[in-house]
Amino acid sequence: MKKYVIGISLAVALLAGCSEKQEPTALQQLPLDLEAGKAIAQQHCVSCHSMDGQGKKDNIPNLAAQVETYLLKTFQTYNHGKRTDSSGDAMEISGELSPAQLRNVLGYFASLPPLAKSSTTSARYSYYDRGESLSKPCTRCHSADGNPTAPGMPRLAGQHPQYLLEATKAYQDGTRIMPTMHEKLTSLSQADMENIALYFALQPPKPAPSTATNAYDGKQLTYDCTECHGSKGSSQDASIPNLAGQDVYYLNEKIKAYRDKARKHGQMHKIVSELNDSEIEKIAVFFAAESPKPMSFTQPEPIYALAKQCDRCHSLDGANPDALAPKLEGQNRTYLINALTLYRDGDRGSSTMHRMSATYSDATIEGIATYYAAQAAR
Ligand code: HEC
Ligand code: HEC
Ligand code: HEC
Ligand code: HEC
Repeated sequence: MKKYVIGISLAVALLAGCSEKQEPTALQQLPLDLEAGKAIAQQHCVSCHSMDGQGKKDNIPNLAAQVETYLLKTFQTYNHGKRTDSSGDAMEISGELSPAQLRNVLGYFASLPPLAKSSTTSARYSYYDRGESLSKPCTRCHSADGNPTAPGMPRLAGQHPQYLLEATKAYQDGTRIMPTMHEKLTSLSQADMENIALYFALQPPKPAPSTATNAYDGKQLTYDCTECHGSKGSSQDASIPNLAGQDVYYLNEKIKAYRDKARKHGQMHKIVSELNDSEIEKIAVFFAAESPKPMSFTQPEPIYALAKQCDRCHSLDGANPDALAPKLEGQNRTYLINALTLYRDGDRGSSTMHRMSATYSDATIEGIATYYAAQAAR
């Protein structure tokens, strides 16, 4: 990945010219010459930000009509090493900018009218809907509602989303041996996998068809299992799978796989290492006959509800000119994803925004970015 580089000459010029970072408000007190600002934009910025302030690519921010104090402040952070970029594209500027030029060029971009809406995506982002559409390739084997009918296929419905996510990643990183066709899934992003996991977790689990008459033969062999998997195979731990009502062939095969170390897992291997084949079959029959209960978990807050918390600072509409929170509506989606990911991971300076985003999943960040990118710029 190419690392972010800021034009060295610019950084040096700014540091040499004004030795210290200038307060945005101090810069704003310099007289504004829009024509001069336009000329600088034409010379130094147009290749990436366009004359109308539209980012040339989705990871380059739109600058048109952005809060001026914010532009002045944020531009200077590039010179102080506070911003690192994950996208691979660099903001490189040839030449030197004095404080007056900086004030003029950013004043020019701030004075531009908001860009007409170019995004055609919908602002409505639902984890469930996104998960449902992404899960299409899975349904051939796992069924659309996560309750498969083919023997030997695991049920995903009603499992905890965290377990489903960990399991999917275990196939991707090779901890688990990849079943046929799972290879295709390696292209899924973290956000995609989170949405799919939530979709399957929210499907009501259906009991497996069982004809076993001797289901209780295995019960006394399962006392060691209940501590983690729940007394009747319905786990309440986010990273431990439900076994109740799971497919009997799948259970049978997996317990043997843990015993024989075909599926590697230290804890599970230790617990089943002494079991013989017939004991394992009885255990599988016992759990398969139990009625499955969905795992309880708190669903993530819907995106529109989260956005209300953001608008507290980001939609002040000029009511407070000293407020530095930038406008988000109509901003480019990839840029917003990059910015929020960097804040979350503590790599982009602002402690306020780090606190806001520290607990966000990739799917939440994708959802918020989609929501704001689809709004009309103002
Ligand atoms: C080679 C492409 C390129 C050029 C030339 C360029 N920029 Fe940028 N600019 C970027 C990229 C990419 C980012 C986003 C970096 C990031 O993710 O932090 C950015 C970010 C910014 C930001 C931060 C916006 C925000 O919402 O936080 C400002 C302000 C800015 N540029 C102003 C300028 C000005 C003024 C010029 C001309 C003097 C200029 N840029 C020239 C690529 C460029
Ligand atoms: C061609 C058939 C097939 C397709 C398509 C498929 N799977 Fe699977 N999946 C399997 C099989 C077989 C297993 C059992 C593998 C094993 O024994 O480890 C499995 C296991 C899993 C498990 C682990 C379940 C558990 O209880 O531990 C998860 C999670 C999973 N698949 C998710 C997915 C997702 C998500 C998709 C789609 C993006 C998908 N699978 C597509 C066949 C498939
Ligand atoms: C100390 C906690 C613990 C105990 C006790 C335990 N398990 Fe597990 N079990 C786990 C964890 C964690 C996993 C998930 C491992 C993985 O990702 O492969 C798991 C996975 C499984 C699976 C795979 C389910 C699936 O959907 O792929 C089966 C089957 C299973 N356990 C059966 C048993 C049986 C039978 C016993 C008792 C003899 C038992 N476990 C006892 C923690 C435990
Ligand atoms: C307490 C006030 C506050 C709240 C609440 C807040 N923000 Fe911010 N946000 C800021 C400030 C201040 C900045 C500028 C930080 C900087 O200089 O990097 C910012 C910057 C950003 C940026 C960077 C924009 C750009 O052009 O580079 C994004 C994206 C963002 N916030 C998204 C959000 C989202 C999404 C929420 C709600 C989940 C939110 N913010 C809630 C104050 C806030």
